[in-house]
Amino acid sequence: MEAQMRLGRVALALALAFSIFSNLSLLVTSSSSQDLQIVNAERRIDLTSHIVKVFLTLKIENTGTSPASEVLLAFPPTQVDHLAVLKAAVTAGKRKKKTYLPLDVNPTEVPDAPNETKYFSVSLLNPLNKGETATLEVLYILTHSLEPFPAEISQSESQLVYYRDSAEVLSPYYIKQQTTFIRIPSSKIESFTKVEPTNRASTELKYGPYNDRAPYSFSPILVHFENNNPFAVVEELVREVEISHWGSIQVREHYSLVHAGARHKGVFSRVEYQSRPSVSGAPSFRNLLARLPPRVHSVYYRDDIGNISSSHLRTDYQKSELEIEPRYPLFGGWKATFVIGYGLPLQDFLFESSEGTRYLNFSFGCFLVDTVVDKLIVKVVLPEGSKDPSPVVPFAVEQRLETKYSYLDVVGRTVVVLEKKNVVPEHNNHFQVYYKFNQIFMLAEPLMLTIAFFLFFVASVAYIHIDLSISK
Ligand SMILES: *[C@@H]1O[C@H](CO)[C@@H](O)[C@H](O)[C@H]1NC(C)=O
Ligand SMILES: *[C@@H]1O[C@H](CO)[C@@H](O)[C@H](O)[C@H]1NC(C)=O
Ligand SMILES: *[C@@H]1O[C@H](CO)[C@@H](O)[C@H](O)[C@H]1NC(C)=O
Repeated sequence: MEAQMRLGRVALALALAFSIFSNLSLLVTSSSSQDLQIVNAERRIDLTSHIVKVFLTLKIENTGTSPASEVLLAFPPTQVDHLAVLKAAVTAGKRKKKTYLPLDVNPTEVPDAPNETKYFSVSLLNPLNKGETATLEVLYILTHSLEPFPAEISQSESQLVYYRDSAEVLSPYYIKQQTTFIRIPSSKIESFTKVEPTNRASTELKYGPYNDRAPYSFSPILVHFENNNPFAVVEELVREVEISHWGSIQVREHYSLVHAGARHKGVFSRVEYQSRPSVSGAPSFRNLLARLPPRVHSVYYRDDIGNISSSHLRTDYQKSELEIEPRYPLFGGWKATFVIGYGLPLQDFLFESSEGTRYLNFSFGCFLVDTVVDKLIVKVVLPEGSKDPSPVVPFAVEQRLETKYSYLDVVGRTVVVLEKKNVVPEHNNHFQVYYKFNQIFMLAEPLMLTIAFFLFFVASVAYIHIDLSISK
């Protein structure tokens, strides 16, 4: 009884200490957030494809008295919904010897955020002392952020899109000086919002320099321009990677592809499309490039109808490029579903770590160039008899386990399922699946094969006997 009470008191004291500690840390960050200022901000927004890339360089100064270990990045809620990648690095050294050290970036909450601003907190490697400056390089990528307008176009029309943002960088800090550059794919701009000074030079818009802007300054801008790049979006990609310890890895990828640009209206004229390829159906696409791992073999590409032969495979020792061509060119709103399959040598992707543990090391993202995947499902089918699978993925994914049975299987195969939304080519990093494997299971398959043969033999003998007995 007394022991229980003492335990309770200890727990209470711990809880109290913890709450004081967490409040204290909250105090530190909130005070430091007001004491930082941005001396210079340079933002480069790349709108040349349908995937929006933003490079932001922030020179930050600590004007307070206490050291700051975190820097906040602010986003309007509409952008956070489309944010696929957000990375930050700190630069060290000058000019030629410049190095980039990656930093941790995590979503965070800030009380009383104006207009539902969303925040991410960048953890600095070394706290920034009073009067010190640091330069942060931030990269973020937005998908589905170019809105086709008009929303429907005919075959002979160009595709025009809207991009919305702010002329000023949204930030909880005071910004002394800032400039934004927007790059567009062609010199055809219908219109753009002016926030003086605003300049235009063929394929680039320059907003600023703006001086001395208060925290949360925001000036909405709208840029209306031509973008005829393929808006290739895979609504769902299911990639199945099957490991066989007998020498190979089989990969099957199911794609449901859509052209996410302005919807096609009117009838499609193949004659016009083929005779005037530069003006007719400019935003449509005929083929896509897939960068597969080197040393692929047994490549196939098929849809519901059957094999599609109009694909070209180029391989060298570093990479394999597969040019896939659906049966018809894809116009806005049109879809195509297909399967790509290939084999890979086991020794390129399967390794042994410590005793008894093996691991697969494979690329995560989609192999199609310049493509957004709304939902990517990676299934790693482990050999029969594998145990304790543990995936290691460099970003947050949903995980679950399934079991798959194929012929000759006794207990079924463990399938590690990884699922991620909003995937862009920057996600083509390697991930690993570690598992334990008992060598005895290597014999399971040949054993089953032998048994199958034996049964077949017995059946044939029986059949012949029956046959004979009838013919007698
Ligand atoms: C919040 O939104 C309103 C209306 O859109 C706008 O007038 C105001 O300036 C915004 N406030 C901040 C701090 O951005
Ligand atoms: C399709 O291609 C695969 C691989 O090349 C081949 O095994 C299969 O027989 C082909 N199917 C048809 C219907 O041509
Ligand atoms: C996985 O493969 C990549 C590319 O070959 C390599 O850089 C990385 O170190 C490998 N990771 C592990 C854990 O083996």
